[in-house]
Amino acid sequence: MTGTARTRAAAADPGAVTLREMRWWDIEPVMALEEELFPEDAWSRGMFWSELAGARHPAATRTYVVAEDGTGRLVGYGGLAAVSGTGDVQTIGVTGGHQGTGLGARLLSELLRKATAFECHEVLLEVRVDNTRAQRLYERFGFEPIGFRRGYYQPGNVDALVMRLSTADAPAAVPGTAVSPLTPDGSPQGPLQGNDHD
Ligand SMILES: CC(C)(COP(=O)(O)OP(=O)(O)OC[C@H]1O[C@@H](n2cnc3c(N)ncnc32)[C@H](O)[C@@H]1OP(=O)(O)O)[C@@H](O)C(=O)NCCC(=O)NCCS
Repeated sequence: MTGTARTRAAAADPGAVTLREMRWWDIEPVMALEEELFPEDAWSRGMFWSELAGARHPAATRTYVVAEDGTGRLVGYGGLAAVSGTGDVQTIGVTGGHQGTGLGARLLSELLRKATAFECHEVLLEVRVDNTRAQRLYERFGFEPIGFRRGYYQPGNVDALVMRLSTADAPAAVPGTAVSPLTPDGSPQGPLQGNDHD
């Protein structure tokens, strides 16, 4: 569909949600969603500026997408980092009124398409250990738990579950040094904190 046709379709159906690339002028509405969805550890404007600075150039390592309803209101967003063949879902969020409509799945599909375009052989993400809804979404896409990062989410000191999707037959490789293996009883081990939402 062309951009004009998509705009007409959206105008005809105010409930229709379309995805498009996130640009700098989306930072303010995305910040409003960010504060709604991550009240304890919201990213700052500066973090979004920094992420977008890594997009849209020949050596880009970042790509961000937003979901817009038929009235032009932003209702979701997501971002991917891709470095040396490894993708990392940096963040993903859907406003309360649109959750459970399949939008999270659409955003994740789009990020995985981008990971393919970046020639990633695996995609990683971190998710709060208590965020079972997001974990179910990732499991539906084939992500598997590979370890924990203790105290990853600050200031609440909440552990992250690290999940991995292999997009090729590559052996599971954990970048960096701080992912602890799953223990038999599933309890987390190991240090590291960070600020990805995913
Ligand atoms: C996690 C999150 C992105 C998922 O987005 P979402 O739009 O709700 O995701 P989906 O609608 O694709 O799937 C969620 C559920 O809705 C169900 N669903 C999807 N389409 C549906 C539809 N048309 N009707 C009814 N249910 C539907 C799915 O089966 C799924 O069910 P499950 O949770 O029991 O497995 C969203 O809940 C969110 O933004 N949460 C707060 C921020 C957050 O935690 N982000 C992730 C950080 S790691």
